[in-house]
Amino acid sequence: MTTETRPLQDAVHLLPQTEQLRALHTIIRDRHADRADFVSNASRIFRQVLEAGLEQLPYEPHEVQTPVGRTYHGLRLTSQVCGVSVVRAGDSIEAELRVMMPGIRLGKILIQRDKVTKLPHLYYSALPLDIADRHVLLVDPMLATGGTALAAIQLLLDKGVPEEHIVFVNLLSAPEGIRAVRERYPAVRMVTSSIEERLDENAYMQPGIGDFGDRYFGTDAPQ
Ligand code: PRP
Ligand code: URA
Repeated sequence: MTTETRPLQDAVHLLPQTEQLRALHTIIRDRHADRADFVSNASRIFRQVLEAGLEQLPYEPHEVQTPVGRTYHGLRLTSQVCGVSVVRAGDSIEAELRVMMPGIRLGKILIQRDKVTKLPHLYYSALPLDIADRHVLLVDPMLATGGTALAAIQLLLDKGVPEEHIVFVNLLSAPEGIRAVRERYPAVRMVTSSIEERLDENAYMQPGIGDFGDRYFGTDAPQ
């Protein structure tokens, strides 16, 4: 089976489509959602995809002594982790990652899609100096055409991060974007809470959520 014909689910870890998850999606996809509800319920899904992203990383045995004098045969991450957010929308997931792991090192990449051509442009990056020695949770809620994700991943590779050390965590993925990332960077793992039907002619996902960044940060038109 070629990469083109393999099911999309082979390329991406899709969260179990539980009723609770679908209820959260129902709140944030509603065009009439109040902004506070949008932010709080999106954050609840971010927590789930981030925990699933951490599941993709390697662990090694690690023992600790419990307060009652017993040994707990546990696990710990084998290498350091950092987060890298794609500004601006990625800052929404980054905020949840900071709550989960307050000490985590965080990098930023500013890539914006041109409003007309929809092509990504890299404006700025600031990354941990030792990023090549870390596993990276790359966070951006939207994977549409994949242009932004490809540019962000290429930048990480240029900084020496091995492809297999990158886990791309997002909220919604279009089939077109999943295929683009899988074709170019097959070792990058992806985690999402929904695989959408397709992109429309304006490169927005269907059924989708509209412009995520505008809705999350409140730069959309007032209702
Ligand atoms: C959105 C989103 C991704 C990108 C995905 O950002 O957050 O970064 O589009 O689209 P693609 O897969 O087709 O490249 P946008 O450029 O709209 O900016 P924003 O972060 O300010 O919302
Ligand atoms: N960016 C968004 O915010 N929404 C989409 O549907 C596609 C890209």
